[in-house]
Amino acid sequence: MTTTTRRDVLRASVAAAAVGTGGVAIAGVAALHNTPPHAAPVPAHLRGPAPLPHAQVIALDLAADKDHRGSALRAAHRAVAAIDSDEIAAWLALGESTLPEPTNRPRHLKQMPTFPGDVLDPAQSHGDLLLQITGLSSRAVREAAEEAMRKLPQWQVRWRLDGVRPENRTEAGRGLARNPFHFTEGYGNPATPAEVSERAVVTADQNEPAWAVGGSYQVVRIVRLATDFWDRDTVHEQERIIGRRRDGRWLDGTPSTERPVFAADPHGKTTPLDAHVRRATPDRREPPPLVRRGYNYHRDANDQGLIFSCFQRDLTRGFEAVQHRLRGEAMAKYTLTTGGGYFFVPPPGDNWLDAGATA
Ligand code: HEM
Repeated sequence: MTTTTRRDVLRASVAAAAVGTGGVAIAGVAALHNTPPHAAPVPAHLRGPAPLPHAQVIALDLAADKDHRGSALRAAHRAVAAIDSDEIAAWLALGESTLPEPTNRPRHLKQMPTFPGDVLDPAQSHGDLLLQITGLSSRAVREAAEEAMRKLPQWQVRWRLDGVRPENRTEAGRGLARNPFHFTEGYGNPATPAEVSERAVVTADQNEPAWAVGGSYQVVRIVRLATDFWDRDTVHEQERIIGRRRDGRWLDGTPSTERPVFAADPHGKTTPLDAHVRRATPDRREPPPLVRRGYNYHRDANDQGLIFSCFQRDLTRGFEAVQHRLRGEAMAKYTLTTGGGYFFVPPPGDNWLDAGATA
């Protein structure tokens, strides 16, 4: 099977896919949200170390007149505050279209571009506002979503997708889960809350609007995975495509929590040069400044994959730098990005509402 043929299969099924409101939860998730008792309060989108195992991602468009944007955002803020709790972590993230004043917009916030190979479906891309709700069970998440949506007639659903993190757990400070390719994800994330903030939270020295300090850029990518083709490859081949073993160990045997020295393998004999992790982080001393907290989705056998989601303080140095390096990676022929968007999670509290985001 050639590269082109595999991508063609994925492309063909994009057109056929219905963008529904449902999603099939994958069974077997039992892990609990694990927050160390000494941790300082962190914004809902970075609570952890492991994200809660179930999620719904809801992209909304303003249904009301644009003049009512301020009151619609306030209503959304109140609706999210009412459901956020120990068992539900919920947050809002603003799309570029909801911040009409460029001078007041986080500097890097724009509509997510179409990257080479993407086939973005407008019906599951972008949105004025993102509402993400995470919880311990799919039922709790759905109920919280319905409770919030009842209060938001000013907003209409653009797209929504259910996600789950099978085998969700924390190891050595990192949240881990198993992705649809049977690999454990999360090892490349930072292991302490301080490192998470350092990568994901906007600081005052970044020349961003004052209201945005303490917030995060959120990138969502709906990535369809050709699991049937993937499953025909041997585990050995799969591990060479990812650049780690399924359990996170490196291909040269280095334990998952340590750094392999890629420079000792300049021609990629052990870890191929086009392996995912080698492209993502060519120099282990310089981890990319982003925090990944994705979910698996499963609409049907032909439409399943990852709701890739990452947070960063700087979109250019975070997601975009990695995305450019991943171009031409060996995994590309098994993946197709069909939707998602760029958003900005405002800082905790409601000062951002007064301080300019709605001006
Ligand atoms: C398309 C589906 C994707 C799959 C199946 C996937 C899978 C994986 C796996 C299995 C790992 C190794 C374990 C870990 O460190 O978490 C990993 C690492 C990583 N991935 Fe992905 N990934 C995907 C997309 C992306 C995208 C779109 C980006 C960013 C643009 C990305 C960035 C990273 C980074 C930064 C690491 C950590 C590398 C390290 O420092 O060790 N991944 N991914």
